[in-house]
Amino acid sequence: MGKRNFIKPSWILPESQATSESVFLNRRELVKGLGMGGLLAASGMTFASHRAHAAEDPSSGLYPVTRNEKYKIDPNRGITPEKLNLTYNNFYEFGSHKQIHEAAQALKIRPWEIAIDGEVEAPMTIGIDDLLKKMPLEERLYRHRCVEAWSMTVPWSGFQLSELIKVAKPTSDAKFVRFETFEDKDQAPGQKQFWYPWPYVEGLSMAEAMNEMTFMVTGAYGKPVPKQMGAPLRLAVPWKYGFKHIKSIKKISFTKERPVSFWEELGPAEYGFWANVNPEVDHPRWTQATERDLESGVRIPTLLFNGYGEQVAHLYKDLQNESLYR
Ligand code: MTE
Repeated sequence: MGKRNFIKPSWILPESQATSESVFLNRRELVKGLGMGGLLAASGMTFASHRAHAAEDPSSGLYPVTRNEKYKIDPNRGITPEKLNLTYNNFYEFGSHKQIHEAAQALKIRPWEIAIDGEVEAPMTIGIDDLLKKMPLEERLYRHRCVEAWSMTVPWSGFQLSELIKVAKPTSDAKFVRFETFEDKDQAPGQKQFWYPWPYVEGLSMAEAMNEMTFMVTGAYGKPVPKQMGAPLRLAVPWKYGFKHIKSIKKISFTKERPVSFWEELGPAEYGFWANVNPEVDHPRWTQATERDLESGVRIPTLLFNGYGEQVAHLYKDLQNESLYR
């Protein structure tokens, strides 16, 4: 993907070009506009529409799936209420704010074909329902930490990406995996905003993609994953900031070169390729030392690798010259 010239929205400008006060005021206005009152007022209707969506989804009979008890969350914290998660989302294809849940219902999720190509023995296309039949589905409780310093805990359903990689059969030339979201301006008005490098792209190294934590999400809260959370196929890499969790995936490519992701292309000084959670490496415009629990509003300490160091720290031991934590 080549470099393009974008007019960047002010909030992604580096600190040197935006005063911290104006950034702070903008964020305060944003928080006021999207506060709890708004969330709760919106949630009743959306909860109902999620139920309707779950009923009409052809995969709804597959859920709930058995929870894999190996993946635990802090018992003092608990699972973030579904209603809250359904109404506080980042999905720029449907708007550059948190209240996209209604707009996202325009996304057509059947038929949904996923292309697998690049450095593989044979490229293929697979429909989501055929993929669901092939994959060993399970539920996992994962922490979810956004680069904006809010966090939640989510019961995802899905399968380990390594299971799909077995089917995809990459060659030894494959060094990275590149994921791409759908592109359709009629369904997703945000994609008319030409200053963004659509479609949304994310990437992982092959070692990261094969790690046991790397999970392809197809469900949440014991039902098919709702549209606003990235139906019908979304990535969860819980030791990384939330922007790596690409939603509504249409294409998975195995590549020799490191892919340039959506936010990295827009603001490379602020959003890198690796994006591993680290409380000691601040975002240029705010601290990453703590995070706001979305349910309680309480700020809690952020953990290195979001608490998943045991599973993933070894992936980075030979990469010390890379910018691993933004
Ligand atoms: N995927 C797509 N296609 N488009 C997006 O705008 N936003 C990302 C990520 N995946 C985004 C996306 C960001 S910034 C975050 S924090 C998470 O989705 C939010 O996931 P959630 O809404 O389920 O909390």
